[in-house]
Amino acid sequence: MSDELSPLPEVGDLEVDATLRPRNLAEFVGQPRVREQLELVLEGARRRGDPPDHILLSGPPGLGKTSLALIVAAEMGAAVRLTSGPALERAGDLAAMLSNLAPGDVLFIDEIHRIARPAEEMLYLAMEDFRVDVVVGKGPGATSIPLDIAPFTLVGATTRSGALTGPLRDRFGFTAHMEFYEPADLERVLRRAATILAVDLRPDGAAEIARRSRGTPRIANRLLRRVRDFAEVRADGAVTRTVARDALAVYDVDELGLDRLDRAVLSALVRSFGGGPVGVSTLAVAVGEEPGTVEEVCEPYLVRAGMLARTPRGRVATPAAWGHLGLVPPPDGAASGPAALF
Ligand SMILES: Nc1ncnc2c1ncn2[C@@H]1O[C@H](COP(=O)(O)OP(=O)(O)O)[C@@H](O)[C@H]1O
Ligand SMILES: [Mg+2]
Repeated sequence: MSDELSPLPEVGDLEVDATLRPRNLAEFVGQPRVREQLELVLEGARRRGDPPDHILLSGPPGLGKTSLALIVAAEMGAAVRLTSGPALERAGDLAAMLSNLAPGDVLFIDEIHRIARPAEEMLYLAMEDFRVDVVVGKGPGATSIPLDIAPFTLVGATTRSGALTGPLRDRFGFTAHMEFYEPADLERVLRRAATILAVDLRPDGAAEIARRSRGTPRIANRLLRRVRDFAEVRADGAVTRTVARDALAVYDVDELGLDRLDRAVLSALVRSFGGGPVGVSTLAVAVGEEPGTVEEVCEPYLVRAGMLARTPRGRVATPAAWGHLGLVPPPDGAASGPAALF
């Protein structure tokens, strides 16, 4: 199913993502804290002539983790090898990658929280001592041969830093926490994309799209392409506020830019569970999704938008959530789980 608002990449995005991806830190919009911290890490390494410390990039999908990983390599003038946690099922796969690294290379492991345990354990030694132990043979006769590898920089990306084991997390010298983007930053992302894609984007049109992009550059760029289609087919090609509004209405993008899953979660929380508190797994079952997806993809933005609160007893809808669904929140304390419905 195509979902205009999903922060996850879709097939058509991959090429466009590549065209629109910022190539260096100067082109990377927003995230001022992360940018400043990373600049220092990279400049320090450059002056010492060493590869930078291992870097962990943590945050929801579509905020620029893969872009930053590629930027780290570009800024260091280094080659980058790409892989992902789920692809590293066997330690041997990782050993092969590690032993092929040249000095200073960047190894990017996406979704690093999903790495299999034997590969993860091999990574500890590789990160710390630039060494791997290759096991030769099987059973009691097996021997382990230590092998030196080139000094490299591991860049890991995760939507779930909480799922990383302590020992792995501790081996990163720097963790960048990516935040949702402010509308003003998304406008800059949109202006840049409009220039590259030759879209006639007007300031009021940019503001309208930015406001509805769920704080996520990937979504902003996707909505820009949908609004451009509309502008070219139903208007004169210029993306103004009115054109953006009409186009986004066709694609079912709501005023706050909440996506289908965000709305399903809010609706279940309010309509089926009386506003909560309810556990995340129960909520996930109610919307037919994996708890991990609800927790990593959907909740961070709902919390940021002030619609949902995470409490020790479970998830709770805020009065703003009721309001957004066109409902009146129950008087204080009246709602307490499913019983409140009957
Ligand atoms: N800071 C940024 N400035 C400009 N464009 C960005 C930025 N962050 C992300 N993008 C855009 O969003 C797309 C998705 O970003 P990506 O790095 O793949 O996110 P993630 O890996 O966190 O899911 C990129 O291709 C790029 O077009
Ligand atoms: Mg990515």
